[in-house]
Amino acid sequence: MYSRIVGTGSYLPVGVLTNADLEKRMETSDAWIRERTGIRRRHIAAAGETTVDMAEHAARAALDAAGCVAADIDLIVVGTCTPDVVLPNPGAMLQGRLGNRGGPAFSVEAACSGFIYALSLADKFIRSGESKRALVVGAETLSRITNPTDRSTAILFGDGAGAVVLAADDKPGVMSTHLRADGGYADLLYCTGGISKGHDPAGDHIVLAGSEVFRHAVTILGRIVDETLAANGLDRSAIDWLVPHQANIRIIQAAARKLNMPMERVIVTVEDHGNTSAASVPLALDVGVRDGRIKRGDLLLLEAFGAGFTWGAALVRY
Ligand code: ACO
Repeated sequence: MYSRIVGTGSYLPVGVLTNADLEKRMETSDAWIRERTGIRRRHIAAAGETTVDMAEHAARAALDAAGCVAADIDLIVVGTCTPDVVLPNPGAMLQGRLGNRGGPAFSVEAACSGFIYALSLADKFIRSGESKRALVVGAETLSRITNPTDRSTAILFGDGAGAVVLAADDKPGVMSTHLRADGGYADLLYCTGGISKGHDPAGDHIVLAGSEVFRHAVTILGRIVDETLAANGLDRSAIDWLVPHQANIRIIQAAARKLNMPMERVIVTVEDHGNTSAASVPLALDVGVRDGRIKRGDLLLLEAFGAGFTWGAALVRY
């Protein structure tokens, strides 16, 4: 038994924050941001618009694309580090919104790797026979934990959601997933406050040691790509599309070089979405599917790296 992606969907908030907007707020420039990150704009959730609101839009689009209704879903897994509230969990909230009942519904917190972690879990539920059709979502309102005047983070992060419907099938589908973490790097990328620790009086916000995280991301992603290909006995030439986490165009270019892939075979959304953490991979996947680049039968390599550090990859026959 395997799991197969039978539908994708995504959602971006209407509000857009451009580099020109940021120039007015802080000592930065459009040229610096584009050259160092590849980002031109990012979407920002409206006041009162939450992670579950965006997850619901993306989930409904994925259900439509899969030609199924919420009642067909027997598992919901949401990857996010920005839940609406601590409880109920965003998976259960999404289940309630969709009017779907009974199956397990939960969230996983693995920062930017959240969707890959969620996909891997849902794949294991389906392979074990415990679930037949799963909704897997990555959704974030990173703007709520970003200091809007901190030029080391505010230029990077955006909000959004992406989703896939995974269905049981006798052919892959998801060929393999690979999850990793090294908690020894927690101090290079973290949020200053939270529930158990207490909220930061200055407002909970992400702190990022940019150049160090960058260096680790390039090395670690190179390694996970090799591991994924080796686990499947495949050469890098077998990959049709790289669907990477969208943190920085230079990290994406390094991953593409490692795979010897021209950038034309890489789905890049960082320019318009910025880094949407757990939402970035399913958002990019949906863009590639809907604009017709990714076709049925194509071999996709999905990868992500984030706070923790956590990282992971999935090899998927679409
Ligand atoms: N505008 C203008 N100048 C800036 C800005 C800015 N927004 N930010 C930093 N600078 C300056 C710095 O002060 C520094 O100046 P100095 O040389 O006078 O000291 C110079 O530009 C270079 O700064 P670096 O931090 O070395 O710049 P770098 O090229 O590393 O780019 C960036 C920074 C974009 C953050 C990059 O390091 C990066 O993308 N890191 C990885 C982020 C990532 O992968 N995150 C993934 C996980 S995110 C998650 O889990 C939520």
